Amino acid sequence: MTVSKEGASWVFGYGSLIYKVDFPYLRREVASIHGWQRRFWQGSHDHRGTPERPGRVLTLTESPGAQCVGVAYLVEESVFEHLDHREKNGYERAAVSIELAASGDQVQGLVYYAGPDNPAFLGEAPPNEIARHIAESHGPSGSNRDYLLQLEAALRDLGDVDHHVQELAGLVAGLDERG
Ligand code: SIN
Repeated sequence: MTVSKEGASWVFGYGSLIYKVDFPYLRREVASIHGWQRRFWQGSHDHRGTPERPGRVLTLTESPGAQCVGVAYLVEESVFEHLDHREKNGYERAAVSIELAASGDQVQGLVYYAGPDNPAFLGEAPPNEIARHIAESHGPSGSNRDYLLQLEAALRDLGDVDHHVQELAGLVAGLDERG
């Protein structure tokens, strides 16, 4: 059993929290959550788009039997002030059970989840529409394309194959080639 340090919590990252680590942590572990899949269904007004032209970033959708691979961080409580601000555009902290890959231990933690009722939620769309939207969006944190491609590279490093992410990365690359 993995013992959490007192006053610290696990937070599971499945999107930019995997590759953009701008916060201190006590431990970092490859991990997964069960029954959820990542999807580019959340609008981004503040990072990869603007209020006028929101980009498309990740949230989670429930999917029985699915496994979502990401990274779990053990962080001090004070880190949540920063994370809450970073993830403020529709995300809420939700309790989740996290499986740490190396030990197989289950720990209780939090995940930033943007549900279908949040005002920035965009929902499902055909992959080619999502890819075009990503290819055309930019915001204060950079291009939406980079969000997707950095995620794809980070998941590859973790040894994960996420078909949704790979399909979109392939479609965006095709759009780039055609100019
Ligand atoms: C996450 O990475 O866990 C949340 C979504 C994001 O910031 O991309």
